[in-house]
Amino acid sequence: MMPDSPSHAELRLCSRLQLSESSSAALIRALRAGESSRQAVVLTPRAPQDYVPPFACVDTSEWGWLPPGVFVPQDGEKPTVHEDYREHGYYYSLDLSSCWESAALAEVPPPASSLDLCAAPGGKTMLMVARHLPLQHVANEVNASRRGILRQNLEHCGVPNTEVTGLRPDQWAETNRLFDLLLVDAPCSGQSLLAKGIRNPGCLGASMVNGNAKRQKGILLAAVRCVAPGGHLLYTTCTYDPDENEKVVAYILKRVPGWSAVEIPALESFRSILAAFPAYRMLPEHGFGAGGFSCLLRHNPQH
Ligand SMILES: C[S@@+](CC[C@H](N)C(=O)[O-])C[C@H]1O[C@@H](n2cnc3c(N)ncnc32)[C@H](O)[C@@H]1O
Repeated sequence: MMPDSPSHAELRLCSRLQLSESSSAALIRALRAGESSRQAVVLTPRAPQDYVPPFACVDTSEWGWLPPGVFVPQDGEKPTVHEDYREHGYYYSLDLSSCWESAALAEVPPPASSLDLCAAPGGKTMLMVARHLPLQHVANEVNASRRGILRQNLEHCGVPNTEVTGLRPDQWAETNRLFDLLLVDAPCSGQSLLAKGIRNPGCLGASMVNGNAKRQKGILLAAVRCVAPGGHLLYTTCTYDPDENEKVVAYILKRVPGWSAVEIPALESFRSILAAFPAYRMLPEHGFGAGGFSCLLRHNPQH
């Protein structure tokens, strides 16, 4: 049943997502309850071979999409109190939604080089190196204080072959350096923060969504210029609105020749009905965290 008096902004979001009445009610309840956060950990290059974390984990064997090296603690476990985390950096703690967003990397061949364009505090980089260790990885973050945290995290977790930089995406595009894989975990309106119980005033409103969509298009237009022929670009956000997700990708596909979106069989049950190309959205009602969006793009080398 629909919660009492949904706000105009809540109803607007549900209608933009074309949710059924029951899914709308589930999303609004999750946004109001703020209890959808779900923690995960990913093993780092510092973890000894065959390492198993020192806390009880959920059986995830049937999920089919969890990236390698990721463990999901059982309720009540506190992974960050252990020495293996604090002292040794054997694992990195992050939101399960981030792991879901990175699942599409299963369809990317091992890259020789990769650039995480919006990298701080480092979660997507950790997930990427847990799957592939590129010969050369760049973790880029425009915000100087966040870049400091990123550097500390990468060092603590022993991520090798990594250069930390602080260029804007348009500056990167001017360097003419090309990478096999680009990660764009874009700054966004962060609507999923509500489902984690974090205040985020205005995040459901048109002005915040439109401002972010404009910035995301600019970031992606620069990012595609950094991808080597035949390379991949993973676009992810932690927000629900189609204007920051499907419509941003549709804009790029229309405007930049030679790109297509890649099917991710493991994410089929999350496939967006709002795009003519493969794109995936997870909502809090799925039970894997506060939600997010993921779309993997591939460049056709003939272009
Ligand atoms: C969603 S967060 C990245 C989270 C990170 N990928 C992780 O998994 O830990 C987005 C990042 O983009 C950065 N950012 C903000 N504006 C940007 C812009 N115009 N271009 C590139 N990055 C930007 C923010 O400072 C922030 O660190």
